[in-house]
Amino acid sequence: MINKKQGKLICVGTGMRMAGQLTPIAQSYIETSDVVIAAVPNIFARKWLQGIAKEYICLLGYYSDCDVEGKSRRDTYRRMVDTILAQVRAGKTVCAAFYGHPGVFACVGHMAILEARAEGYSAQMEPGISAEDCLVADLGIDPAQFGAQSMETTQFMIYQRKIDPTALLILWQPGLAGELSLKRFDTNPARLQILVNKLARDYPLDHPVILYEAATHPLEQTRMDTILLKDLPAASLQQITTLVIPPARAMQPDQDIVDQLNAIAATPVRLEQAA
Ligand SMILES: C[S@@+](CC[C@H](N)C(=O)[O-])C[C@H]1O[C@@H](n2cnc3c(N)ncnc32)[C@H](O)[C@@H]1O
Repeated sequence: MINKKQGKLICVGTGMRMAGQLTPIAQSYIETSDVVIAAVPNIFARKWLQGIAKEYICLLGYYSDCDVEGKSRRDTYRRMVDTILAQVRAGKTVCAAFYGHPGVFACVGHMAILEARAEGYSAQMEPGISAEDCLVADLGIDPAQFGAQSMETTQFMIYQRKIDPTALLILWQPGLAGELSLKRFDTNPARLQILVNKLARDYPLDHPVILYEAATHPLEQTRMDTILLKDLPAASLQQITTLVIPPARAMQPDQDIVDQLNAIAATPVRLEQAA
């Protein structure tokens, strides 16, 4: 049996929506850990966490590192991880809380868990409700219907990616599209035009796309604006916007594979009878 050191790390998510999207196990870790370290932007969620945590350390101020010459979001994330690890090394049970799912398009929890485990501490992540989970519910999209691709917008822009326009495409952080300095939290029409140009390799310019923003508290409206792809540069995009691009073409049968499967099947089937 491996002896773990005394400190312990549990990363939890608070869900997207204040009230109701926190899992019971996440709430239990928030209430019982020695310290809660959190980067939760919603003020009501933050106040609530502060109210139930034994001790609370807020990481949000670390984003101002990006205003310092020569520093970027990487330095912010490094300092967040260091703050979490310092409390674990002090022998505390640490609950690191992030909005949504703590490990979905959120690197700090993953980094902290890897480093804590490498140093011999117990570290785990509990799943939470992510923006993508809300999107499936709000937009009534089942990723199983056509398959789904999900990636960060700037990563999609600056790397050579093979997009399948017969499947759903979810682009995260379009509000930061093409922001290469890793210092700012916005985009502009020129960068969005470059995004549109790249998407136009696979989608018609008049293809409908959805700007999705899940409501973060019960009094807020969920944004589900359908616009044409070509109008994206003029659209208003926030840090919380997710860009949802429905399939533009029908899936084409791979008859060769269907024939191979039928050749070994007891009862051959036609494609429309299968998945
Ligand atoms: C750093 S990621 C955090 C994702 C979060 N960990 C989750 O589980 O959804 C930020 C991106 O998540 C998406 N996002 C965050 N809040 C959202 C919201 N209220 N509605 C829709 N998408 C959101 C946007 O694509 C945003 O740019």
